[in-house]
Amino acid sequence: MIDAQRFREVMASFPSGVVVLTAFGDDAGPRGLTVSAFCAASLDPPLALVCIDKTSNTLPAVQHTGGFTANILAAGRESLAGRMATKLSDKFDGLEWHRPASKLGGPILREDTAAYAVCALRDTIESGDHWVLIGLVLEGAQREGIKPMVFTRRVYG
Ligand SMILES: Cc1cc2nc3c(=O)[nH]c(=O)nc-3n(C[C@H](O)[C@H](O)[C@H](O)COP(=O)(O)O)c2cc1C
Repeated sequence: MIDAQRFREVMASFPSGVVVLTAFGDDAGPRGLTVSAFCAASLDPPLALVCIDKTSNTLPAVQHTGGFTANILAAGRESLAGRMATKLSDKFDGLEWHRPASKLGGPILREDTAAYAVCALRDTIESGDHWVLIGLVLEGAQREGIKPMVFTRRVYG
C-alpha cells in the first residue's frame, strides 16, 4: 500500500476547484468548511458528491439541514478558503450570505463564488476516514465572467 505522504503528493497533483460547503446547525446558525473533494456524480438525475473528514464539525449541520450548498469559490478568495479551513466557531462573522430558496441547502456566499449548487442529501457512504455525501442538485447558477479558483499541489492558482 502507498504511504500517506506519497498518496497526498499524487492526489495533490490533480487540479481541483475550491468549494465552501455550507449548512445550518441545530441553532440555525451557518456552518461550513473548505473542500476540494467535490465533483459531479450523475447527470440524470443531477448528483454531486463531496468527501468530508469524519472529524468535521460541519457534518452534524449537513445532517440537520438534510442537505448542503456547494459554494464554488471565485479566483482571489484565498483568505476565505483559509478561514473556512479552520475549526474556529466564528468563521461566518462579518460574511454576507443568502438563504437558498430550498430549505434543504446551506448559506449561499454569492459574492465570493463563481457558481453554487444547492443539494438535498441523498446518500451518505462510509469511505475510510471520510464520508462521501451524495447530493441531488436542486438549484444553482454560475456567475457570468467570474473565474473559479484553482488549487494544485497545495497552491492556489
Ligand atoms: C484547499 C483545501 C481543501 C480541503 N479539502 C477538504 C476536503 O475535500 N474534505 C475535507 O473533509 N476537508 C478538506 N479540507 C480541510 C477542512 O477545510 C478543514 O479540516 C476544516 O477545518 C474543517 O472544518 P469543520 O470541522 O468546521 O467542518 C480542505 C482544506 C483546504 C485548505
